[in-house]
Amino acid sequence: MKTIAVIGLGSRGTNYMRFVRILHKKQAKIVALCDINQVKVQEIGKKYKIDSANCFTDENEFFKEKRADAIFICTQDNDHYRHCMAALNLGYHILVEKPLSYDIDECLEIEKVAKEKNLYVVVCHVLRYSNYFSKMKDLVRNGGLGEIMTINHQENIANFHFAHSYVRGNWRKREIATPILMAKCCHDIDIISWLMEAEAEQVQSYGALSYFTKENAPKDAPYRCTDGCPVKDCPYNAEYLYVTAPLHKATWLKFSPRILTGKAHSTKKDVLDALKTGPYGVCVYRSDNDVFDHQSVLMKFPDNRVATHTLSAFTDKFYRKTHITLTNGEIIGDTLTGKLTVHRFNGKNKVYRTSFIQLPGHIEADAKIIKSFIALLNGTLQNLDDVTFVSATIPSHRTIVRAEESIKSWE
Ligand SMILES: NC(=O)c1ccc[n+]([C@@H]2O[C@H](COP(=O)([O-])OP(=O)(O)OC[C@H]3O[C@@H](n4cnc5c(N)ncnc54)[C@H](O)[C@@H]3O)[C@@H](O)[C@H]2O)c1
Repeated sequence: MKTIAVIGLGSRGTNYMRFVRILHKKQAKIVALCDINQVKVQEIGKKYKIDSANCFTDENEFFKEKRADAIFICTQDNDHYRHCMAALNLGYHILVEKPLSYDIDECLEIEKVAKEKNLYVVVCHVLRYSNYFSKMKDLVRNGGLGEIMTINHQENIANFHFAHSYVRGNWRKREIATPILMAKCCHDIDIISWLMEAEAEQVQSYGALSYFTKENAPKDAPYRCTDGCPVKDCPYNAEYLYVTAPLHKATWLKFSPRILTGKAHSTKKDVLDALKTGPYGVCVYRSDNDVFDHQSVLMKFPDNRVATHTLSAFTDKFYRKTHITLTNGEIIGDTLTGKLTVHRFNGKNKVYRTSFIQLPGHIEADAKIIKSFIALLNGTLQNLDDVTFVSATIPSHRTIVRAEESIKSWE
């Protein structure tokens, strides 16, 4: 039985903990917790029956000694480097949320120390573990389709999701998170690099924050939606998105009140109070957001193979779409349907269905990364080829930093 400590008890941390508790209770156990939010520490500590001596609200106390075999680091983007270094110095194997760091020197330092200490650092590039992308990789690797010539990939964020996370939420500003290409699309650039089995040699990017700006605020729209906004039918009306949307229209935002209130059990009044005082009630045209709402990256890989990636806030649903052209055929797919269509130039076409039920987000991939990490700890993981070890993820992080650097050349 392996023991696990967790720092960061937000959406991601509690998601992973649930898989350990439900799916792997014979192989692993959560034994220590840390979060700056005392309510979360108390509630979750109680739920997981963790000794109060192993429940912390101060990271310095938590990192005073080693409390488990491995650690899940699920704090915010800018904490990952600091928490990884503290954990490595104590001898923990690490599962850390993406992005590792926007500073490539920090990523390289984590890689170096992990190697010196013979410790695993696995970065949560969960998409690689999904049925959809692992089938895509299998088709590229073993499908007899030849060499990749081009990849056209899209991340369609969905307008309401963008407004929640990148206009009002924790990832709205570069300085408190990272540029959106890193925060949201490090998965996509990782997938592209993984499919190409190489790091991009040249990178160019264009993008902007064009729509969610003060200039586009409707006349008379107040700072908060809850301050009597006269605009009818605004798709970003916070009260609608988080409280009143009818079931058939409601997005997951309505069902995640904890993000707004910080409480495990929130009443309607708690949510309304949070909209009156917190960031999620602010008009989407009057927030202090600065991350791009659309961006494209053009990458040249060895042997003149090319790839593009485009992110956009301006879509109805959130999903990814990919078109790969290879010397003997093409693969076309999207995560909305989970379908991968293969056209072979010899006329043999086939459609692969990688998901039969629509699960929210990438929950199936989240479950699989935890399964894989626990098997790694227990020495039972058969194939290490596609594990998202730190060294496998640094090339795509570096590509993103170069894409952002390239923007300075035309800004
Ligand atoms: N792999 C993925 O697909 C994926 C998806 C979403 C988010 N993420 C990443 O996961 C990370 C966490 O995201 P989230 O949505 O769970 O955020 P969250 O805000 O819900 O959770 C973060 C938690 O960390 C706690 N925290 C902050 N500072 C702390 C500190 N110094 N010590 C201890 N706890 C601290 C907060 O109180 C909060 O509970 C982010 O880096 C995010 O970019 C990854």
